Amino acid sequence: MGHFIIVGILVVVMAILTYVGLDAAGVATQMHPIEASLQSVSIDWLWNWEIMAISFLFALIVVPMAYSMIVFRRKKGDPSEGEHFEGNTTLEIVWTVIPLFAVLALAYMGSYSLGETRRVDPNAIVIKVKAQQFAWTFEYPEYGIVSNELHLPVDQQVVLKMESADVIHSFWVPEFRVKQDIVPGPLTDYRITPILVGDYKVRCAELCGASHAYMENNVIVDTKADYDAWIAEQRAIALANQTPEGQGKLLTVKNGCIGCHSVDGAKMTGPTWLGLFGSNAELADGTTVVSDEAYITESILDPKAKEVAGFSPTTMPPYTLSEVEIANIIAYLKTLK
Ligand code: CUA
Repeated sequence: MGHFIIVGILVVVMAILTYVGLDAAGVATQMHPIEASLQSVSIDWLWNWEIMAISFLFALIVVPMAYSMIVFRRKKGDPSEGEHFEGNTTLEIVWTVIPLFAVLALAYMGSYSLGETRRVDPNAIVIKVKAQQFAWTFEYPEYGIVSNELHLPVDQQVVLKMESADVIHSFWVPEFRVKQDIVPGPLTDYRITPILVGDYKVRCAELCGASHAYMENNVIVDTKADYDAWIAEQRAIALANQTPEGQGKLLTVKNGCIGCHSVDGAKMTGPTWLGLFGSNAELADGTTVVSDEAYITESILDPKAKEVAGFSPTTMPPYTLSEVEIANIIAYLKTLK
């Protein structure tokens, strides 16, 4: 009995020391980015409890093992065999019941935290998210706004209706904790309630191609007043954009073109659009073509037809756009001089 009491005390001490050590090393929660959503609070709560459970289970295994190795070591000059015994019902029950409760407790905490994370607010704002190689696009259907920045009001649940235009992407804002894959085909719901005003970034967390690492857009959590002001401003811009150039620019945001084409001459996955219209394009086969209406139209509908030298040949997918839409995009390109 004496051994059990000593081992019991040592297990408790070891468990506490392990947890304190892990906590000091930053494993418990300090390594996490700040908690910027309601969901992150319950996820960090679960994480912290699991670190405690891990510390206890670690002590429960390591202490009796080390204790037996030291205290019940074979004495010097004692060549006799160890005592032989078969079966121990008490021990069997103990080592079945303890892990059973440990697993049940972890399962309960896991489902509780999952339930908190997925809690549905019927008044959630709906925002559409489109992921594609290699850009995020956010649409506010209520207001007819399309943006490449995600603005969210603080203390209000939003539900992102996410879809992928090509391959698997993954929506991840570390400060919100919850990460969600977006698979081509179904619409995926992602609920988040921001609780901290600030600037964050959404990163793609699924290797999706050559420029995966650059698939990063701004996420801004605004106060209610700032959010309303932004919505009003964007609505005004959307109204002013009723011109062909304006519509064309909107289409380039909506279709994610600007994820690969810069408008300021910067080198990205695709050729820059600055000064593109009317310029001569050197093709991969050594010939030259004028970037006029016909060539740009062909390149949108069938990017592989005449590829520009120096760019990865398979990156751009063909786009199905109407004649008017293409004309609007070309009108916009003409303004980029
Ligand atoms: Cu999209 Cu990685």
